[in-house]
Amino acid sequence: MSSKPIGIFDSGVGGLSIWNEIHQLLPMESTIYLSDSKHAPYGPKGQEVITNLSIKNTEWLINQGCKLIVVACNTATTNAIDILREKYAIPFIGIEPAIKPAAIQSKSKAIGILATKGTLSSRLFHKTSQLYSSDLLVVEQIGNGIVELIENGALYSNEMKHLLQNYLEPMLEAEIDCLVLGCTHYHFLTPILKELLPEHVKIIDSGKAVARQTMSVLEKNMLLNEKTTVKTNRFYTNGKEKVIASLLKLEAVSLQKLEF
Ligand code: DGL
Repeated sequence: MSSKPIGIFDSGVGGLSIWNEIHQLLPMESTIYLSDSKHAPYGPKGQEVITNLSIKNTEWLINQGCKLIVVACNTATTNAIDILREKYAIPFIGIEPAIKPAAIQSKSKAIGILATKGTLSSRLFHKTSQLYSSDLLVVEQIGNGIVELIENGALYSNEMKHLLQNYLEPMLEAEIDCLVLGCTHYHFLTPILKELLPEHVKIIDSGKAVARQTMSVLEKNMLLNEKTTVKTNRFYTNGKEKVIASLLKLEAVSLQKLEF
């Protein structure tokens, strides 16, 4: 069992930012990444649709023999992870906006959260947010349009820059000193955000914490791969192969198109 792959899924290419952290921390693990780009964005969809898409992705990864599944999507985690954990016996790791570390680090006591509508309107997000933000001003912003631009290969476009300028404006007016990236796609915005934000504003995402949690759950379940010979990283997409390849920046990867 322990030599089986870790399954990772997202509504698209955003979860590659999580794959990257997992691969760096656990290079001895095999992985299967599923990009459900055909159904992106998940953010504006209702909870039932997001849950059904998450079930579809999970069952596909389980059929590939995965030993653990990382839901590398804040929207799918905050809307569907409870149901996935109830329905399937294997361990799940989820990702949520990193409000707690931002609340701890903020000196101005004002933080910004950029996330999807599905995440910001979820019960799980509200619960976490209430827990850590009692003495904080939290400026929430839905990142409408960002995922679509990334999925279409327009990460470094003028349109993206304009969207971000608009979304950051109320946050900067509120004098935030931490910006939480509450969607795995947004990790790829980091170089653009650094240009647009004052230097003292910290950009916080949850990628490293998810990788550490993955390692800890594998250890606890005695699922860490001990064989050194078998190790493969496979990527599957039902969207544009070119976009996933450009974000992966790896020479030799197994990337396959999927009708799904
Ligand atoms: N990467 C997903 C997330 O973390 C993107 C959501 C979407 O498809 O709208 O929320």
